[in-house]
Amino acid sequence: MTRESWGSRAGFILAAAGSAVGLGNLWRFPWMTAENGGAAFLVLYLGIILLVGVPGLLGELVIGRRARNSPVGALRDLADSRGWGIVGHLPVLTNLFLLSFYSVVGGWVLRYLLDAILGTPITEPGAYFDSVAFGLEAVGFHVLFILLTGLIVVGGIRRGIERATKLMMPAIIVLLVGIAIYAGQLPGAAAGYDFFLQPNITYLRSNFVDVLLAAGGQALFTLSIGAGTMLTYASYLDDDRSLPADGTTIAILNTAVGVLAGLVVLPLLFALVGNAGTSGPGALFVSLTGAFGTLPAPAGRGLAITFFAVVALAALSSSISMLEIPVSFLVDEHGWTRRRATTVLLGVFLLTGAVNALEPAVFGFIADTLVNLLLTAGLTVFLLFAGWVLGADAIAEFERGAGPLARRTSGAWLLAIGILLPLFLLFTLFSGALGAADVAVPHHWVILATAGTALVAFLGLRHARSVV
Ligand code: PFF
Repeated sequence: MTRESWGSRAGFILAAAGSAVGLGNLWRFPWMTAENGGAAFLVLYLGIILLVGVPGLLGELVIGRRARNSPVGALRDLADSRGWGIVGHLPVLTNLFLLSFYSVVGGWVLRYLLDAILGTPITEPGAYFDSVAFGLEAVGFHVLFILLTGLIVVGGIRRGIERATKLMMPAIIVLLVGIAIYAGQLPGAAAGYDFFLQPNITYLRSNFVDVLLAAGGQALFTLSIGAGTMLTYASYLDDDRSLPADGTTIAILNTAVGVLAGLVVLPLLFALVGNAGTSGPGALFVSLTGAFGTLPAPAGRGLAITFFAVVALAALSSSISMLEIPVSFLVDEHGWTRRRATTVLLGVFLLTGAVNALEPAVFGFIADTLVNLLLTAGLTVFLLFAGWVLGADAIAEFERGAGPLARRTSGAWLLAIGILLPLFLLFTLFSGALGAADVAVPHHWVILATAGTALVAFLGLRHARSVV
């Protein structure tokens, strides 16, 4: 059987950007920005996207196209080692967790979209969210969301994912620009821009490590890296494409939509309710529903329908990438047909998603903590692999199909992903794990542990091909 491939360069870029643009941009990003000092967070986040996100994304793309295989087979075959194949299961696992909670939030979006279409009156947005977020109805909407996701993935790379994201991405951008223009004309919107665009340096100074961790986690989540998504999408790519050019385009598109979402959500909130709104996972739903409610009915309803339609499209174009990873694992590794893999996995996600829709504590732990740790661990593994196991092959793949600029930067890139980024990622991984376990350890100990672990990894991997 020949392996599937993308129909066009635009198809790949839109699908990958579709994976990146999602609830992370529209639901998590404005909430993280509001919670971490506004523009202070934004500045750090943009820096991390540039210095960690883009080179990290390129690391995944390089492995994926080199191997033309999903993560398990990619690591195993490229290293010629079963040990690496076992390590390659980590991203498959990560996607199981990711989609289990993501589908619940996707369900909330569908519910709010339906409410807006039907004109359901919501007088107490906070109480309303609390009553619908978890429980049997939440399970119902999660089921709807996961079935829509499955419907696209079962169509395959070209007829399913590529075709859907080619329609969805332009729609998302056009609608979002439309709402941003509308929001900008509301009296009081300026306070939202101020909050979003003026860095609060004092806040950044006194909370640097916390803001750094939040920005780092958000950068990986929003770019869909660390879960093998970009690796798998790149495995369907031809040799004549420039990975550095495509990767940079994907990151720019994603960041633009993230900033655009901030320019929609924060001015709307400041104009209509006077502050950045409540925080936490309900933030977007509670605050914006309250904000839409202050407008005259037809305008409020029209805006709500448009906004939640954008969020639903963005959520779906990401959830399909989460389902694609375990699907391609079963197809590539176990020879299943796509239809069988999709059906069986839908059964699994119906259950795991239902647990998340019924148990707020499980949902909170996975969405807030576990996913950040898994993505960080996953990206560390990929980058160590590209830097130390592939080495010169990684550079060759980085340069294949690319222009002279790529040739001039490939050495620096390898140094960054092999040494600097693993140090940064290990530091955030350790700090994040300690924070999650509620253990307070002085930063210099964490730095020491990071340096020690990295040294062991570097020394161990020098002979990776022969020993793992
Ligand atoms: N990037 C997606 C978003 O911002 O909503 C979420 C995501 C998709 C994270 C795929 C990780 C992943 F592998």
